[in-house]
Amino acid sequence: MASALSPSAPAQEYLQADLRPADVHAPELRRRQQRIAEIAELIHVASLLHDDVIDDAQTRRGVTSLNNVMGNKTAILAGDFLLARASVSLAALRNSETVVLMSQVLEHLVSGEIMQMTASSEQLLDLEHYLAKTYCKTASLMANSARSIAVLAGVGPEVVDDLLDLTSSSSVLGKPALNDLRSGLATAPVLYAAQEEPQLRPLILRRFKHDGDVALAVSLIERSRGLQRAEELAAHHAKAAADMIRCLPAAQSDHAEIAREALIQITHKVLTRKK
Ligand code: FPP
Ligand code: MG
Repeated sequence: MASALSPSAPAQEYLQADLRPADVHAPELRRRQQRIAEIAELIHVASLLHDDVIDDAQTRRGVTSLNNVMGNKTAILAGDFLLARASVSLAALRNSETVVLMSQVLEHLVSGEIMQMTASSEQLLDLEHYLAKTYCKTASLMANSARSIAVLAGVGPEVVDDLLDLTSSSSVLGKPALNDLRSGLATAPVLYAAQEEPQLRPLILRRFKHDGDVALAVSLIERSRGLQRAEELAAHHAKAAADMIRCLPAAQSDHAEIAREALIQITHKVLTRKK
């Protein structure tokens, strides 16, 4: 996003890591935007450390999870530490609008997790609730990080408001992966399938807990249009995101053009990626 809004390619020095401590104010725009990327990554990893404790996960991306190696207390504190570093770095940007945006991400992450944990029976079957939860748990970080980078670049509020929509709904698809079903989660394909196959409803409500629930759910989803409809929903949001990129004020450099094309490619990639 920093490149997409940049009037020129960044100087070579910005391709090297910035080794100044996070609490030292970086005056250069590109460095400040890179710090937003670092803050986003710190928040993301912190939320996953906490999530693995909540889910009692044994692995994360194929590697033994921290809670598994060090125990829950250390894993929670490690997440807290990353959040603390992110806060220091955010404060050092000395830009109160980005502090508001990135703090909202924290609020969204926690409320998304709580929405998932405490959903009522009605909410478990409700696609709107699912989308709101998914926005909080996944999209808000992307949306508000992109937005913060635009705020630092000084683009007008009209563009910044569009940017929030651009990224806010890119992760709504989710396949009915066995892992989601096993952990009791009903994603978009499941919810669509349940509209055609009412037999799925009690399974969703008991979070696929009984023996054979997961296998039955898979067969019901397969004979429905759930996957297809979820893919259409994702394609709709991906197209809206790509359209937003095309609506940005005219690019001022080839560098910005290339970055915009890359952002559009991401909208295609999220539809076709296999993992
Ligand atoms: C992965 O969910 C989890 C998240 C994307 C966010 C979790 C948020 C919290 C635990 C709230 C605490 C937040 C902070 C900032 C410390 P998942 O279990 O559906 O996906 P997975 O398969 O990757 O585990
Ligand atoms: Mg998890």
